[in-house]
Amino acid sequence: MMNKAKCLVIGLLASTTAMAQKPTYKEQYRPQIHFSPPAHWMNDPNGLLYYKGTYHLFYQYYPKASVWGPMHWGHATSADMIHWKNQPVALYPDSLGLIFSGSAVVDYNNTSGLGKNGQPPLIAIFTHHDQAKEKDGKNDTENQSLAYSNDDGKTWHKYDHNPVLKNPGISDFRDPNVIWYAAEKKWVMSLATKDRITFYSSPNLKEWKKESEFGEHLGAHDGVWECPALFPATASDGKKLWVLIVNINPGGPNGGSATQYFVGYFDGNKFKELNKDTRWVDSGTDEYAGVTFHNTGDRNIFLGWMSNWDYATTVPTEVWRSANTVPRELKVVNMDHNYYVTSEPIKELNSLKTTTIDLKSLNVKGEKDLTKLIKRSDNQFELKFSSKQLKSFSVVLSNKGGEQLVVGFDAAENNWYIDRTKAGVSDFNKTFAKRMVSKRIANEPGTDVTLIVDVASVELFADKGSTVMTAIFFPKKPYTDLAVSSKGGFEMSGVTYSPLKSIWP
Ligand code: FRU
Repeated sequence: MMNKAKCLVIGLLASTTAMAQKPTYKEQYRPQIHFSPPAHWMNDPNGLLYYKGTYHLFYQYYPKASVWGPMHWGHATSADMIHWKNQPVALYPDSLGLIFSGSAVVDYNNTSGLGKNGQPPLIAIFTHHDQAKEKDGKNDTENQSLAYSNDDGKTWHKYDHNPVLKNPGISDFRDPNVIWYAAEKKWVMSLATKDRITFYSSPNLKEWKKESEFGEHLGAHDGVWECPALFPATASDGKKLWVLIVNINPGGPNGGSATQYFVGYFDGNKFKELNKDTRWVDSGTDEYAGVTFHNTGDRNIFLGWMSNWDYATTVPTEVWRSANTVPRELKVVNMDHNYYVTSEPIKELNSLKTTTIDLKSLNVKGEKDLTKLIKRSDNQFELKFSSKQLKSFSVVLSNKGGEQLVVGFDAAENNWYIDRTKAGVSDFNKTFAKRMVSKRIANEPGTDVTLIVDVASVELFADKGSTVMTAIFFPKKPYTDLAVSSKGGFEMSGVTYSPLKSIWP
């Protein structure tokens, strides 16, 4: 993230302006199918947890301004991860510091002893960030703490003996992500410790022992490692593997923040990677701090913050700032004897479809305007298609003011790309107007593409989600037109267009 002290000053200055405006969920650029806080600043998703039919989303929140400031945990709940109900702030800063990112678990066996009346407690494990110490130039500013809930996540109490894991003198020591390691009946914490992940274990969430370190010489290292997540996954060929997600800022493939992953084995003590190359869950500029929900059985559902620390605090929205990506189901797929993580929008998103227009197959040579064919009137939609033979093509979203967003594939470079150089307002940051690219991973001749478009974002799931890119954009007027184009010719099949209704009442 950007310099926290600087953010704090901007935050305090900006608080009066943003407070004056009431959220309507109809503001210019307000996402209609993605979660955004009613008002003010949001960054990382935190404490993603499913319990008793409810999905809990906590998030890094500054409730007084639309820029980063003293962090709280905001809270929203949902029955389907699509429609969200805003809840009161769950965690406030206290004498130990600001409430930075972390995770939440159900302590089914009451190992912590914090349960009540025979009911398991929900436990949040988060980083306390001490700003006073930071100002004094100390490096032991970040410690791990607990909060618990005895009413299924409605209200939260800080544990009396925080912190539970003290800083050994490492300046970046944060974002604990805790899982139950059933084979050894212990909790395992993945913690971002500067340029690597450190694993700790505990019988009761209160006393932690260091197990091992991972990644000093693996993956991308042009920034600080943040927000890890570790989970088991059965691969497409039945192999039992583990995935370790590691966010990094800066150092992303298209600049700024991004999410990388490793596939491998975990034995309760060490993570051993299978891939030596750097892999990205999403290689666009606008998915960051993504982690997975806990307690969702065999489903691994990933949610990211849809922004980038390079410009998150200056994007042109005032009432609120930032949204999340659509929730995505992660799978581990064996492609050419290599295990990759793929992502696809969760099936629950289909409930937003009002209708599906089946365009069947399209033989595109030059430009084909789809606007009339689909009677386009919605700002949010899903466009899906396949092709037996992937060739260079592009999908163009545009308005009558000459602004356009282009998503496509460049066969000569073997790259998927999103070009937002002419997409709209970009003067808030000099790196924003860019064409971002991502090498194709799949190598079969055909493809399968899903595009999820909202008022101010596009998410590309290419080749069944082995290449994923997310980008935000800010056109002066909404894009009204949709076209596909291909100079050399491109045959698309199974083309469907589905408008998506707003998730907000
Ligand atoms: C990632 C991050 C985390 C930290 C939080 C602070 O975006 O920098 O490492 O806990 O944001 O808001």
